[in-house]
Amino acid sequence: MKGVILAGGKGTRLHPLTKTLNKHLLPVGREPMIHNPIRNMVACGVREVLVVTSSSHMGDIVNLLGGGREFGLDLTYKVQDEALGIADALRLAEGFAGADNVLVLLGDNVFENPVDFFVRNYLDGQGGRGARVMLCEVAEPSQFGVAALDEKKVVEIQEKPDRPKSPYAVVGAYLYDPRVWDVIRGLSKSARGEYEITAVNNEYIRLGELEYDFVRGRWMDTGTFESYAIANAWMFERPFPGG
Ligand code: DAU
Repeated sequence: MKGVILAGGKGTRLHPLTKTLNKHLLPVGREPMIHNPIRNMVACGVREVLVVTSSSHMGDIVNLLGGGREFGLDLTYKVQDEALGIADALRLAEGFAGADNVLVLLGDNVFENPVDFFVRNYLDGQGGRGARVMLCEVAEPSQFGVAALDEKKVVEIQEKPDRPKSPYAVVGAYLYDPRVWDVIRGLSKSARGEYEITAVNNEYIRLGELEYDFVRGRWMDTGTFESYAIANAWMFERPFPGG
């Protein structure tokens, strides 16, 4: 299993905090935000990790994380030249991942607990085949990818729907087998001009090969001032294991 942390994007929703500083370097508790996915990779036993970010912030991220020795990780870096979406950023990991499965974590998602159970369920329950996502019940699902369930199966994921079909947000942790690279090659841009991770997940649903877990403990997407402040307070009061 290889790991991919996506830390590109524009971060415009957090201006002026993110005008010069990359969103993923903002403090969350006692550490920079990106330490959360980094520590999660460690907790999952994933040792080789690729970090994708924009050229303007690559220097700061490399200065912070280096080769990963502090965490017992082997870190590699790739530049996403333009913020063309999460699936576009993931595309850059194809050569790095080779024939291995990948655990993908979004750099602005903060998990209170390790997601090692998610990786175990994928390897033991699915034999590491297909895709696995993680769901969390939220108050305002229309800000997220939303999973429609039927008899406990995910039948469709809609990206930021006006009328969500469930309260279950798809959080920023994904597991894929190597077919994901072909799936990404087959994507076209969405109405908002991005290559969407939701389109990747919907293709695995079409193949009948997408499973899920519910998040254990608290989870937050730090995309807004409010959610960032909440995640910061949570992690201050209860740091991630190892942090
Ligand atoms: O947080 C979970 C949500 O993340 C999911 O429910 C949605 O389905 C998914 O599309 C995503 O939605 P966001 O609107 O929150 O995505 P955002 O543009 O904020 O990007 C999330 C992370 O991905 C962020 O840490 C930076 C990285 N990213 C994003 C883009 C657009 C990249 O590395 N490159 C990119 O081009």
